[in-house]
Amino acid sequence: MTIIDEIKALKKEKDAVILAHYYVTPEVQAIADYVGDSFYLSKLATKLKETTIVYCGVSFMAESAKVLNPEKTVLMPEKLADCAMAHMAQLKLIEKARKEYDDLAVVCYINSRADLKQHCDVCVTSSNAVKIVKKLPNKNIFFTPDKNLGAYVASQIPEKNFIHNPGYCPIHNDVKKEEIIELQKEHPEALVLAHPECPKEILDLAAYIGSTSGIIDYATQSEFKEFIICTERGVEYKLQQNNPDKKFYFTKTEPICIDMKKITLEKILHVLKTGENEVFVEKELIENSKKPLELMLELGK
Ligand code: 13P
Ligand code: SF4
Repeated sequence: MTIIDEIKALKKEKDAVILAHYYVTPEVQAIADYVGDSFYLSKLATKLKETTIVYCGVSFMAESAKVLNPEKTVLMPEKLADCAMAHMAQLKLIEKARKEYDDLAVVCYINSRADLKQHCDVCVTSSNAVKIVKKLPNKNIFFTPDKNLGAYVASQIPEKNFIHNPGYCPIHNDVKKEEIIELQKEHPEALVLAHPECPKEILDLAAYIGSTSGIIDYATQSEFKEFIICTERGVEYKLQQNNPDKKFYFTKTEPICIDMKKITLEKILHVLKTGENEVFVEKELIENSKKPLELMLELGK
């Protein structure tokens, strides 16, 4: 039996389903039952019939799945797969802003921990942030933890006042303008597609700005044949699968999230066999951090 056959057999036996983010390796995406961006996977997690979710993503994703589905067993193939940005949110900045503004809404990117989410009013992902913040009645918005996504959302909603937490994704924040310009010279027909976790100087070069799913859908529907992709390299698998006749270029400094790449088929098999690496969140924290996640699902519809 191959490892893939073993995983499939165990999934049935344990009533498990495998979810994967686009940044995990191609072989893990290939074995997953569902692959998607952060918003799609959070919505989906509330609709699954299986009793066990094997979450191939970083810890804030698995934790959110648990918070939204406390009755389910959520397993992480790699417990140490973490998001650096999720640790950059400063609670003291939220508390300070709450004191300063009466009508403040604290908007929290889903790339954050449950103990931070419990202090926030609503969660967002890169695919719904503009839509949700526009719907809020509040004029003053505290956006945490990503300063780049926050600045992008602010640029789309000039009528609101934004206060930012100084966090960022080390991978997207490091995309280099000169390397994109070099690629544009080599491939003058190519369109730049960028994730809003990139800094403004990168977004200024982009023909399209959107989440991982947004980028994949845009390239798939476009009549253009060549694209410079400014997000984590894992999206290449789906881009190429959907568009075998199109070309995708990435910057020389490879945009790789090493935490997402820690997830392997062997580790998926191991947690299915042993039930190890179960995600536990305390009852009170589930109750408190669930509210902003559920409001996101409602406003993001
Ligand atoms: P999306 O999948 O929502 O585009 O998020 C990107 C990301 O960095 C997830 O950690
Ligand atoms: Fe976090 Fe960046 Fe990795 Fe996404 S790509 S999980 S934001 S470190």
